[in-house]
Amino acid sequence: MYRKTELFYEPLKEPYDIMKPIEEGFPAGEMSKEEQAFLCGLIRANSPKKLLEIGVAAGGTTAVIGNCLSKVSPDARMYSVDISSRYYRAPEKESTGYLYNQVNERLRFANFHKFMLGRSIPFWIDEIGAGIDFLVLDTVHSLPGEVLDFLCVLPYLSDGAIVVMHDINYNLLSTYSNGVNSYATKVLFSSVRAGEKYYDFDSPRTNIAAFRVNCDTREDVWNVFSSLSITWEYIPTMVDIKKYTSIFLRHYGITEALEEWLKSLLYLQEKAQAKKIGNVDKEIEHIRETVKKHNSTYIYGTGLKGARMVDLLDKIQISGFCVSDNYPTEGEYLGKSVRHISEVSVGEGIVVLASDSEECLWHIYENEIPHVVVSDRLWKTYNCL
Ligand SMILES: C[S@@+](CC[C@H](N)C(=O)[O-])C[C@H]1O[C@@H](n2cnc3c(N)ncnc32)[C@H](O)[C@@H]1O
Repeated sequence: MYRKTELFYEPLKEPYDIMKPIEEGFPAGEMSKEEQAFLCGLIRANSPKKLLEIGVAAGGTTAVIGNCLSKVSPDARMYSVDISSRYYRAPEKESTGYLYNQVNERLRFANFHKFMLGRSIPFWIDEIGAGIDFLVLDTVHSLPGEVLDFLCVLPYLSDGAIVVMHDINYNLLSTYSNGVNSYATKVLFSSVRAGEKYYDFDSPRTNIAAFRVNCDTREDVWNVFSSLSITWEYIPTMVDIKKYTSIFLRHYGITEALEEWLKSLLYLQEKAQAKKIGNVDKEIEHIRETVKKHNSTYIYGTGLKGARMVDLLDKIQISGFCVSDNYPTEGEYLGKSVRHISEVSVGEGIVVLASDSEECLWHIYENEIPHVVVSDRLWKTYNCL
């Protein structure tokens, strides 16, 4: 059975008396008071010395955490990371974390606190450094979201660290139709092995949970990596993927196998995204529209798929073909030049992947080359599988 924690409401009072959300209808904190009391209960029980919060929004929960730390662990250091430097509900009006600043101006928390805004966690984690003993995850909720962030932070977590995840049943509780895909924290909670798991209210209506990192968490971290093959809701930017990947390869050993696995995973996830586009006709339309936004178009692959893609792109001018670096490039294909993928550089145009091989993917990500991945559904329809 999951453990329970004593709810601790006291740190909520002063911040809520001070916080003035910009307009009615904007929440001070996006956690309920009961959920914040759960979080504060775990902070009181564990007296963390280095707390990392990922996902800040207006900063209402940040203010509550700050007040709680000030009371129970006044020499703790706290870092708050958000991918956006502007408050996502009203970016033109307020910066991320503005409510924390309002509260801190009045209460002057004892603790060190730093906002790290505008980039995802892999860009900050080395500056924050190891020894994190409390992590709060509350970001995008859809995959890969918090799963990627946890894997990025785990090497920097102390043994015994507490990880709190919000919105672990948001897929059922959200009032938004796209909320049905918001299960990233639930996937993490269910796939991770941990010392203890905390889930207070024994009901699927409860939307916050936590676990304690122990040696099993690290030993069986592959369960969490494996959960990354559940279909993603979105593909992170190439810049972010490069940064997450570099952290994983630095900290998780068996580099070559992991690198190959990640590369295949990304390719398959991109193919799955392509399949999500309604049907084959819509996918072709999408490919044409995407390609038209670029001055030149290269097709990766000189086989049947490459030739079929030329037909499908209809009257769109193709600049040439490209192939993997270990593939011969002599001559032309369908009257166009053939180059190695490593010769296609940043700013040259877009690459349409018309090949079974994901070999080119690292070069494409490394150089942030715009690209289109085609679903197997489309290849099957055109007899290329
Ligand atoms: C649900 S809100 C956070 C609410 C906050 N924890 C509270 O209780 O008031 C989600 C926040 O996560 C941020 N976010 C989304 N994706 C992110 C990512 N990959 N890394 C960091 N922050 C992210 C958004 O900009 C937004 O501010």
